[in-house]
Amino acid sequence: MTGSHEHLVRLHDVARTYGRGPGAVVAVHGVTCTLGRADRIAITGASGSGKSTLLHLISSLDEPTTGRIEWPGLGGRPFGRPGVVGMVFQGPSLVAPLHVLGNVALPLVLAGVAEGEARNRAGRALAAVGLPDLSMRLPEELSGGQAQRVAVARVLATRPALIVADEPTAQLGSAHAAQVIDLLMKAADDLDAGLVVATHDPHMAERLPLRWRMADGTLMEGEPCSS
Ligand SMILES: Nc1ncnc2c1ncn2[C@@H]1O[C@H](COP(=O)(O)OP(=O)(O)O)[C@@H](O)[C@H]1O
Ligand SMILES: [Mg+2]
Repeated sequence: MTGSHEHLVRLHDVARTYGRGPGAVVAVHGVTCTLGRADRIAITGASGSGKSTLLHLISSLDEPTTGRIEWPGLGGRPFGRPGVVGMVFQGPSLVAPLHVLGNVALPLVLAGVAEGEARNRAGRALAAVGLPDLSMRLPEELSGGQAQRVAVARVLATRPALIVADEPTAQLGSAHAAQVIDLLMKAADDLDAGLVVATHDPHMAERLPLRWRMADGTLMEGEPCSS
């Protein structure tokens, strides 16, 4: 399948258990779902319900203990292929000694894009998140909201087919949080990329058209199978 109904990721009865024996923690179990390119999904659920584990499995940063994951629309497992999945995390993720433009250009440079072209793309991505004037700032000179918008620009610059954000607004006030969610949605639309955002904030989840709820490691409601 191609176009907006393309399946980016498919999970079949996936489980992830940390540790072994009596101390083992079942972080995720019984998850079967499909992510499409047109999907914009909020994963909600209490702390410890397995949201981060599920996102790591989807992004192939982690591997399931049982079950199967496929990435048909991403050309196979994305691990080790920069720019296939773009990630935004909760806390500070910018490289402290590099100015903002260098941070946004860094994944491109690491992927072998020539430095001039990388800087051009980084500059355009910063303009797209409304921060064209902060290029020469250092991360320590940014507010929390600005830093997360730079993290969105860094994703945008690499043009991933899937954007995964793990509690990207947890450390922001509600106005800045809403701005970051809306920029993630806009980035997904501009790139024709899928979007999955974990959040424990129902107000942020409401800004996304699809909501999946996790409880005790499993998907409880919503429409887990899409496209
Ligand atoms: N590396 C780890 N080792 C052991 N247990 C873990 C690890 N990471 C997460 N867990 C446990 O797995 C469960 C799910 O955690 P997590 O996926 O981080 O949930 P959430 O992101 O919803 O807070 C929790 O019980 C957590 O303590
Ligand atoms: Mg988490």
